[in-house]
Amino acid sequence: MFNNHSPDSSPSLGFLQKNNSLEERSRIVSSIKERATKDLLSCDNTGGDARFKRIETDFSNLYARGRSFCLPKMEKSPPCSSCWRWWKSSPATSRRLLTNPPRASVWSCPTSPKQVGFTYEIAPVFVLMEQLTLKKMREIVGWPNGEGDGIFSPGGAISNMYSVMIARYKYFPEIKTKGMAAAPRLVLFTSELSHYSIKKASAALGFGTDNLILLNTDERGRVIPADLESKVTEAKQKGYVPVYVNATAGTTVFGAFDPINDIADICEKYNMWLHVDAAWGGGLLMSSKHRHKMSGIHRANSVTWNPHKMMGVPLQCSAILVRERGLLQGCNSMCAGYLFQPDKHYDVTYDTGDKAIQCGRHVDIFKFWLMWKAKGTVGFEQQIDKCLDLSAYLYSKIKNREGFQMVFNGEPQHTNVCFWYLPLSLRHLPDGEEKRERLHKVAPKIKAMMMESGTTMVGYQPQGDQVNFFRMVISNPAATRSDIDFLVEEIERLGQDL
Ligand SMILES: Cc1ncc(COP(=O)(O)O)c(C=O)c1O
Repeated sequence: MFNNHSPDSSPSLGFLQKNNSLEERSRIVSSIKERATKDLLSCDNTGGDARFKRIETDFSNLYARGRSFCLPKMEKSPPCSSCWRWWKSSPATSRRLLTNPPRASVWSCPTSPKQVGFTYEIAPVFVLMEQLTLKKMREIVGWPNGEGDGIFSPGGAISNMYSVMIARYKYFPEIKTKGMAAAPRLVLFTSELSHYSIKKASAALGFGTDNLILLNTDERGRVIPADLESKVTEAKQKGYVPVYVNATAGTTVFGAFDPINDIADICEKYNMWLHVDAAWGGGLLMSSKHRHKMSGIHRANSVTWNPHKMMGVPLQCSAILVRERGLLQGCNSMCAGYLFQPDKHYDVTYDTGDKAIQCGRHVDIFKFWLMWKAKGTVGFEQQIDKCLDLSAYLYSKIKNREGFQMVFNGEPQHTNVCFWYLPLSLRHLPDGEEKRERLHKVAPKIKAMMMESGTTMVGYQPQGDQVNFFRMVISNPAATRSDIDFLVEEIERLGQDL
């Protein structure tokens, strides 16, 4: 692989760098142009040295800041000295380099984030970043010494799908080779208010959505544990095999936290896998003030946690964490001989890609790692506390305000604040079908007017028998109380005469 990095053999064409003199720059630019024109005219892209001929599309050398890029694809240039250092090091040494990076290290290698994370040799730095970060996340979940496993996936829906796959593999490993025909009728359980990705996983993985049993929730949108237990015993009486329960930490609409400890007791009693979908709520684990809402999460067998939601990491960044080591690998590995050779010169457990259901993977870890390094755990905690404070402020501002009505009473558990706005014309109507029908149309109208006037935006939806209501969620730490004030006043301005 590194042979591709042989230095440019053409003396006429150097690299365009920031510190080139004007003369050097014009010489290089005109020779690039000349070669590009020739290549475009000849369309000759074959033959011994074809890879150097597509100059017109190769901007990789522009502003190389004194040295060349070090992605193997950049075939004309050797890797920078820091990257050589990573590649030449054993994973253990690299790990030390990562926790204590040298100056002018890999951070300055501008193309590295484009790497794909399937093997250590292809993305050594990112594999290690991923491992260290996943371990830290598992420690925060509460698993002893951060033991366990995990992988970054393309979003919470896929992380949830992983959890169902791993649970199935744990109880019925033969399904991997023999398919669902090898298993009895398996059933899964999740809240009626959980994210639809659990249903999607049931369909995609061949369980069938009829075998996903929905659990009733209380007035705040939390699963009722007694309902779980009675539905599990009912399923067993019918001869079905209950294997998996999803508890949500931060439901999508209400921001509710299911009672994990009570659900964990039932899972232990009936030997079922407990997954916690903390895609939305996981960020609260960073806050000593709010993490109690997920009390019992350490008893989960797997956890979905999306740093791209509450923690503000740019999309996409989602982790599936698994308490038992080895299951991810066992469930998903296919041992393709052209990628995951067992006789490599380094410890091949660092070739984490075979645990994934993808092949090439985007290195979502990089931005998360950088943010964590920049903000620190305390920085994340402050930003999350701030968002929750703002939602408490919104709640306190509208709970008794004329024209506003809360969807449920009490402080929001997460940053979801759910409410109706009643225009003047609806306020004195008696409760009944006419009022419901008219109220149902209010939130979509106000939102449309907001979008037309370009001032602000807030989501709405119906839920069960509740007509359209606004759901304000706050995950942007740059938001302020005056933004909240503005939102409330804007709803009144646009909506009061409807
Ligand atoms: C509770 C919950 N789980 C899972 C998901 C899916 O996450 P993603 O959009 O990253 O796939 C969401 C998204 O809103 C969610 O709220």
